[in-house]
Parts: sequence; structure tokens; C-alpha cells
Amino acid sequence: MATTKLLFLLSAIAFAFDLQYVKAKIVPEVSQLQKSYDFIVVGGGTAGNVVANRLTEDANTKVLLIEAGIDNEGQEDLIVPFFGTEASPDTIWTWNYTTTPQPALNNRIVNYPRGRVLGGSSSINFMVYTRGSKDDFNRYASFTGDEGWSWNSIQEFMLKTEKLVPSSDNHSLAGMIDPSIHGTSGNIEISIRGSEMVIDNMVIETTKQLPSEFPFNLDMNSGNPLGVGWTQSSIGGGKRSSSATGYLAPQFRARPNLDVILQTQVTKVFRTGTQGGLPIFRGVEFAQSASGHRFNLTANKEVILSAGSINSAQILMLSGIGDKSALQKLGIETLIDLPDVGQKMIDHPLISTQFNVTGTDTFDSVSQNVTLLLEQFTEYNTTGQGPFVDGATDHLGWFRLPKNTTIFDGIADPSAGPTSPHHEMLFANGFASFVSSSPTEGHYLSILNAVVSPVSRGSVTLNSSNPFDFPIIDPGLLSSPTDVAVLVESLKTTRRFLAAPAWKDYIIAPFGTAENLTTDADFEAFARANTGTVFHPVGTAAIAPKNAKPGVGVVNSNLTVRGVSGLRVVDASVLPFIPAAHPQSAIYAFSERASTLIKQTWGLPSS
Ligand SMILES: Cc1cc2nc3c(=O)[nH]c(=O)nc-3n(C[C@H](O)[C@H](O)[C@H](O)COP(=O)(O)OP(=O)(O)OC[C@H]3O[C@@H](n4cnc5c(N)ncnc54)[C@H](O)[C@@H]3O)c2cc1C
Ligand SMILES: *[C@@H]1O[C@H](CO)[C@@H](O)[C@H](O)[C@H]1NC(C)=O
Ligand SMILES: *[C@@H]1O[C@H](CO)[C@@H](O)[C@H](O)[C@H]1NC(C)=O
Ligand SMILES: *[C@@H]1O[C@H](CO)[C@@H](O)[C@H](O)[C@H]1NC(C)=O
Ligand SMILES: *[C@@H]1O[C@H](CO)[C@@H](O)[C@H](O)[C@H]1NC(C)=O
Ligand SMILES: *[C@@H]1O[C@H](CO)[C@@H](O)[C@H](O)[C@H]1NC(C)=O
Ligand SMILES: *[C@@H]1O[C@H](CO)[C@@H](O)[C@H](O)[C@H]1NC(C)=O
Ligand SMILES: *[C@@H]1O[C@H](CO)[C@@H](O)[C@H](O)[C@H]1NC(C)=O
Ligand SMILES: *[C@@H]1O[C@H](CO)[C@@H](O)[C@H](O)[C@H]1NC(C)=O
Ligand SMILES: *[C@@H]1O[C@H](CO)[C@@H](O)[C@H](O)[C@H]1NC(C)=O
Ligand SMILES: *[C@@H]1O[C@H](CO)[C@@H](O)[C@H](O)[C@H]1NC(C)=O
Repeated sequence: MATTKLLFLLSAIAFAFDLQYVKAKIVPEVSQLQKSYDFIVVGGGTAGNVVANRLTEDANTKVLLIEAGIDNEGQEDLIVPFFGTEASPDTIWTWNYTTTPQPALNNRIVNYPRGRVLGGSSSINFMVYTRGSKDDFNRYASFTGDEGWSWNSIQEFMLKTEKLVPSSDNHSLAGMIDPSIHGTSGNIEISIRGSEMVIDNMVIETTKQLPSEFPFNLDMNSGNPLGVGWTQSSIGGGKRSSSATGYLAPQFRARPNLDVILQTQVTKVFRTGTQGGLPIFRGVEFAQSASGHRFNLTANKEVILSAGSINSAQILMLSGIGDKSALQKLGIETLIDLPDVGQKMIDHPLISTQFNVTGTDTFDSVSQNVTLLLEQFTEYNTTGQGPFVDGATDHLGWFRLPKNTTIFDGIADPSAGPTSPHHEMLFANGFASFVSSSPTEGHYLSILNAVVSPVSRGSVTLNSSNPFDFPIIDPGLLSSPTDVAVLVESLKTTRRFLAAPAWKDYIIAPFGTAENLTTDADFEAFARANTGTVFHPVGTAAIAPKNAKPGVGVVNSNLTVRGVSGLRVVDASVLPFIPAAHPQSAIYAFSERASTLIKQTWGLPSS
């Protein structure tokens, strides 16, 4: 994000605040891998580490985890929440993807980073932790015909993921969260802000001054996120909590039945036999460089693809599992004709508006002043306190369009139901943008707006049969006019929010091209010129609808690939709809349940 390139200033500075390194067990060379594993997990990201952890709870089950990126341990910059927005794009921890030119965004190309490090995108994301709504999960259940994905059923797995911890400044949580609905012993630490921002009071005051449009919501993770509330983050004790720190912590890495190999890219999965009339895909081919030797390994029980929404689809297609005519054009033999692989991709378009403000206590002070930056970093390093303990936003707002809206006339309301928002507002105490760089002077408030129940769909397709070529990524941002109309409403909602008396002495005026927007057409032009994404792609290997014909959808509701034995997908790509939320919580919960399903299939003891 355009705050400042803080990381490159600090990356040379080692710090040691409370870090306890235990030498991790990583298999250094392919030659040292074992001859056989029960399960091979492809991708040590958000989902993959959950699966690797849960399956190795049984000491008799041998698991190999293959990750393309490097180890998260030793990458101190990834730990500091304040640096969260600096971990992407185009860093040593990312796949440096970009989109195709997006027609609805004036043909702009948008950065599309994914994590390429243990922890995957959970090691580089912005740590916002939102579960989604009851209706989001109940729609998963009704669409797939599997009650196990419903809100009530998934609670068990959400609680299993979470460990609610005190804020790093140990302030009272009263009035900021409902601790009774949260997990207390899970792997991912969750907390509320540990350092006050100057805008916090103004946001809360607005919920008192304009309560009918902007009600306060004590806990947006209760199943009904609507309203404005305090952001919960995957941060514990002022440090990022990722699937790598949580599910691959030293005590888990030390398990003798878990092997992890890094900087190794899976190039395809392959057929190893037939079972019950279905082709078995338990073979994994991998390499350590584009021109390097291709190695093969076979799992005794299952291969689990957890390479994320871009790469799981890519691997399936490279393996001959995908749309026959598209694969044929690239000279890839189709083994399983599944036209939906890579299709129906869904993402959340996001736009930022900045406002000049009268105050000076913004993160712009830090971006613009290296002395202050080092001062605050030292405070963080030595005391574990100060602004660096937090991510970019202390509050989020989730809203539905009014009941009499005409935007959905003639189409079904794209939200999952009455507890699911149509759009979101995020508050940042400084200049935040993913499409323009920060000015070198001034102080700002940024409000970011996202369409969270979008109609638009995109795709991931192959550009070539070479696994080391980037796939073609077209998230179709704002390709539906409905989404454009929702985003315009969201921008106008923001202006009403800031018209509350709470902001009277603080806001000077909208910055730059946001200055004179009045008509819907003005806001639409602004949206097309400035929208990007909040990096939430899902759906590229989606669960099929219940009773689907063969060849429809990509995985069954137990996440096995349709028409295949021995192969499952467990990651963001299986979600058939995008949750109206930042999706990491949903992905953790899906991964926890998937691990339970895999254990049940193989009669492994449950945890
Ligand atoms: C910049 C950014 C900010 C975000 N902010 C938030 C946020 O604040 N809150 C939130 O809830 N969500 C956020 N998200 C989204 C969220 O982080 C992702 O949806 C989620 O982490 C995806 O999990 P996953 O398991 O599907 O994939 P990933 O976590 O991306 O894991 C995939 C893993 O597979 C590896 N891999 C890929 N291909 C191969 C291969 N061929 N061989 C071997 N390994 C491979 C990758 O290197 C990676 O480690 C953000 C995402 C990004 C990119
Ligand atoms: C961080 O703290 C450690 C010891 O706690 C110290 O060695 C190091 O110099 C500090 N770094 C900075 C940038 O203050
Ligand atoms: C992404 O860009 C960074 C910075 O230029 C580079 O170090 C890294 O190797 C690139 N990643 C990939 C997968 O190409
Ligand atoms: C944090 O606050 C709680 C309740 O106010 C108190 O009991 C506890 O001792 C405090 N912990 C620390 C580490 O200060
Ligand atoms: C790996 O398996 C594939 C599919 O069976 C085969 O084509 C390839 O030759 C094998 N490669 C090696 C190095 O054994
Ligand atoms: C930069 O920060 C330092 C430390 O807080 C402060 O003393 C100095 O006045 C600041 N410089 C500017 C130009 O604001
Ligand atoms: C919806 O109702 C509100 C409040 O009654 C009104 O102000 C608004 O104009 C109506 N909108 C439409 C599209 O009818
Ligand atoms: C906002 O601040 C910047 C930097 O000081 C300045 O150039 C710009 O004119 C200001 N805009 C408004 C609307 O005040
Ligand atoms: C696809 O391949 C073509 C031809 O090699 C190349 O020009 C283009 O940049 C590639 N696209 C992507 C997304 O890599
Ligand atoms: C906004 O309108 C004012 C007054 O007409 C004009 O001076 C200014 O340049 C306009 N700003 C933008 C960004 O177009
Ligand atoms: C998964 O579900 C499909 C479809 O219901 C079923 O055919 C298959 O046997 C199941 N596989 C496992 C491993 O449970």
C-alpha cells in the first residue's frame, strides 16, 4: 500500500523483542525426503498448514508439506502488524501477479499479490479477522446440500481456530467485543487494537449521532456483522498471528511424522491407478526451478491441494483436469473434463477516498519522518507497545442497501440474506491507497469502500502449459453494472457518515480528484478510475451445487475433486460464494472441518 516503503528502511535492522527461535525441522534437500507419505499437502499457506497440523496429530500418519516460498521464521518484518501493508506487492514473500486489463476499470491492470512464504497469504495479509454472516454460511449449506457448512455447524471449527487474547496494551475489552462468543484456546490469536488512533472516538461518536444509519455493533463476528464496530485482527501480543505461526509453531514442526520442504513448486498431480471405477490421482510432480529436475512422489492415502485460489486451479489445469477445449489449445491432454476449474472466480472490489484533515496525529507523520519512524519502531521493539502493534484499521462498517433500493430490480439480491452486507467501509488514520502513491506532505483520513456481495465473476486460465509461467488472472472487477451501482452507494454512504458533527472540526475536504464529486455519474467515474481489490479471490475450484450432474462444479461437498479418487482441494478456491467478510476466518474454519472429514475418511483419531 502507498504508505511508505518502510520495510526497506528497516529490513536490515534485526530486532529481538521476545522472539524465541527453535530450530525448525525443514527438510533441506529432496534427496532427504522419505520414500512414502500418507498425505502430501501442496502449499504451506493459510489452509495447507491447518491440514498438515491436524493430520500429524496422529503420530502414525506421515505428511509431507510442499511450499513454493521461503520460511516465515527469520522474516521479522512479517511479524510487525504496522508493516502489514508493506509485505506486498512485489516482495520476496509474494507471487507478483497482476490482472489482465480490467475493462470496467478503464482497462487498468491491478496488482494481484498472493503470499509465497510459509503461511501463504496469511503471512502477508492485513490481519483483519471477520467471520462473515450467518446467512453466508447457511447459503453454503443450502447450495451444497451439506448442513456441515451451516453457521451453526461451523461454529465448532471457528472456535477451534481462535484464541482471543488481551490487547497488547491490556486495555479493558468491555464494550468493544463480546468475548463469550470467541474461542480461547485455538491456534490463531485474535485481538482488538492495542494502541489508540485519534479517529477512534470520532467513529464511535458518529454511531451515537447517526444511530439509525450507522448503528454500533458490539461484535461483528456474532453472525450479524451489520453496523459499525471495532476491528478484530489476527494479532496477538502485538505480533502477526498467521497459519505459519499458529499451525506450524515449533512444537508442531518438531513432530517426526511431518516433513516440510520449501522453495519447491508442484508442477502437476498425476494419475496412479483406478479405484471403484474412478481414476486415482495420488501422484505429485515437483521441481525446484523452471529448468530443474522434475521429481515424483506418491501419497498412500491422499493428495491435498492447498495452493490457493490462483494456484490450485492452475495445478488442476496443468494436470489435465479442466475445460477440455481450453486445455486442448495448449496441448494438454484432458484427463478429467471439468469446465468449471478456474471459472466463477469472485473477489471484492475496493476503493479508497482520502480526506485532508486538521489533525497531525496520523500515520502520515510516520511515513513522512524517518526519525519518528525509528522512534516508534524502537518503542515497539523494546516495550512491545505503540502504534506498530496494530494493523491499518480500528473500525469497520458493514451495510445493506435500503429495502426500497432499485439497484437489484430484475435480479436476485446478490447477498446471502438479511444478515449479509452489500458493502463495507474501512477507516484508516492516514493516506491509504492501492492505486496511487502517498503525497510527501499533509495529513489524511482514508475511507475504503468495498462491494462485499458482488455479482461480477472472473477467471483464472492458463497462458501456457509451462507451470512456471504465470496464469492469466481476470477477476472481472466491477464487470457487473450492479456492482458499480453498489459501490457508488457505498461512496455516498461514506459522505453521509462524515457529515456527522463528530467530524466537523477534523475533515477539511476530500483530497485530489475526490474533491468535487456530486452526481452519481461523478462517483461512478471516480470509482472506475480508482477501484482495485482487497485481494480476496475465491471460487476457482468451487463446491458443486447439491445434486449437480457430473462435470459441474469442481469439488464435492467433502472437497474431493469430482470424478477423481485420492485428490482433495482445501483452500479459498472451494468457496462457491464469497463471504461478505475478509475471508481468512472462513478459510480457517473450512480447513478445520476439511481436516476432520479427511480423518473420518481414513479412520484417524479425532482431535
Ligand atoms: C495483500 C493481501 C491482504 C489481505 N488481507 C486480508 C485481511 O486483512 N483479512 C482477511 O481475512 N483476508 C485477507 N486477505 C485474504 C486472505 O489472506 C486469503 O484469502 C487467504 O490467506 C487465502 O488462503 P489460501 O489457503 O487459500 O491460500 P494462501 O494462503 O495464499 O496459500 C497458498 C500457498 O500455496 C503456495 N503455493 C502456490 N502454488 C504452489 C505450488 N505450485 N507448489 C507449492 N506451493 C505452492 C503459496 O506459496 C502459498 O504459500 C488478504 C490477501 C492479500 C493477498
Ligand atoms: C531491538 O531490541 C534488541 C534487544 O531487545 C536490540 O538488540 C536491537 O538493537 C533493537 N533494535 C532496534 C532497531 O531498536
Ligand atoms: C517478486 O518480486 C520481488 C521483488 O522484485 C522478487 O524478489 C521476487 O523474487 C519476485 N517473486 C517471484 C515469484 O517472482
Ligand atoms: C491486564 O488487565 C487485567 C484486568 O484489568 C488484569 O487482571 C491483568 O493483570 C492485566 N495483565 C497485565 C499483563 O497487565
Ligand atoms: C512422473 O510421473 C509422470 C506421470 O506418470 C511421468 O510422466 C513422468 O515421467 C514421471 N517423472 C519422473 C521423473 O519419474
Ligand atoms: C520528526 O520526528 C521527530 C521525532 O519525533 C521530531 O523531533 C521532528 O520534529 C519531526 N520532524 C518533522 C519535520 O516533523
Ligand atoms: C427509499 O426510501 C427513502 C426513505 O423513505 C427515501 O428517502 C428514498 O428516496 C427512497 N428511495 C427510492 C429509490 O425510492
Ligand atoms: C491536502 O493537502 C495537500 C498537502 O498539504 C495539499 O496539497 C492539498 O491542496 C490539500 N487539499 C485540500 C482539499 O485541502
Ligand atoms: C502470456 O503469454 C504471452 C506470449 O508469451 C505473453 O506475451 C503474455 O505476457 C503472457 N501473459 C501473462 C499473463 O503472463
Ligand atoms: C474542484 O472545483 C474547484 C472550483 O471549481 C476547482 O478549483 C478545482 O480545481 C476542482 N478540483 C478538481 C480536483 O477538479
Ligand atoms: C465425497 O463425496 C462424494 C460425493 O458425495 C462421494 O462420492 C465420495 O465417496 C466422497 N469421498 C470421500 C473420501 O468421502
